[in-house]
Amino acid sequence: MTSRQLVYTPQELLSSGDYAEPLIAGTVRCHGGFDADGTYRSPRTLHRAPAILAWQEQLARDFGGPGRALIDIPRSFIPPQYPNVAQAKLLLKSGVSDPMVRALTIISIVEGFGAMIRDVQVPDLAADLVEPIEGTALAHLAGGLFEAHARDESGYREEGGHKQMWEAARDAALENPRIPGDVLMRLMGRRGQRGKAEPLFPELGPKWERMIAMMSQVLVIEIFAESTFQWGIHVLSDPEVSADPETAGRMVGYIQADEKPHVEYLRTALSELRARTIRTVDGRTVSGASVVDRMLHRILRQLTASRRAEQRDDLRDGLVEAMKVAANPKALLEEFDSLESDWTPPARTGFEPAAAA
Ligand SMILES: [Fe+2]
Ligand SMILES: [Fe+2]
Repeated sequence: MTSRQLVYTPQELLSSGDYAEPLIAGTVRCHGGFDADGTYRSPRTLHRAPAILAWQEQLARDFGGPGRALIDIPRSFIPPQYPNVAQAKLLLKSGVSDPMVRALTIISIVEGFGAMIRDVQVPDLAADLVEPIEGTALAHLAGGLFEAHARDESGYREEGGHKQMWEAARDAALENPRIPGDVLMRLMGRRGQRGKAEPLFPELGPKWERMIAMMSQVLVIEIFAESTFQWGIHVLSDPEVSADPETAGRMVGYIQADEKPHVEYLRTALSELRARTIRTVDGRTVSGASVVDRMLHRILRQLTASRRAEQRDDLRDGLVEAMKVAANPKALLEEFDSLESDWTPPARTGFEPAAAA
């Protein structure tokens, strides 16, 4: 297959084509839409989806057998959601909805933060890489891929994105709950306590460091989000705890579908980088594989350790207070804690530096 188009304009990568029906979430017109047969089609995938496939095929052809050259993060690294499905349903059945309103609002806010990807500065890739990059995902990061991703997450102009779609799912399932005014402030307070990481690649300069860190971090978060979607669908489409299981469950399903191109372009571009050689600021070279693997190793270690703790802190903060509306708060807390999932991340990330492997 050499006839596939490998070079795209930003306009092509941002175009959705025509839909028979728009997607309306609550009262907000959102991205994406439905074909004449009612099938949901994700936004900005008219060219972006075949483009990613073509770049992946090219990578497999040029750098090893199918699947070999493409980075994968095993699903065993995905931490379970906190609260888990049973805990979330227990809270809602007990009339304690505040923690779930907060948890779903945090998810919507974090989706909106995804727009930050458009601010990532892309180094001069053609100059800094030894091998050519024409017709790769790498060559399109600044030319449409980051922008499409940003628009998907936080919406664009009057059109809603994942932020608004999660809000709509929450409001449908929990009947337009009152949103506590301090969710964002508390979230920022907790996240603001994170320390700044030491640079891993001083020899590449800060632009490279930041881009690789951001892409690796977002890739891992996007993959971890798969557990959030499963969780969201299970909880919000259960008629026992959801006021509008049909609408809420479907909405989360659409968001889930939209994330596929995010995971795929990020793993493709990082894999293309892995297969190349990067020039250092002092005129030497370093293998892309060693750079990408060290960053993925660091991020996987950090996020498998911190994500669960962060979700737990987000929820526990105010949980006891919220449970006061239940008939027997003490018994409820005990039952809630007894449902907690055990989880330990795998011992090895699979991206260990060669010396330690
Ligand atoms: Fe998203
Ligand atoms: Fe995403």
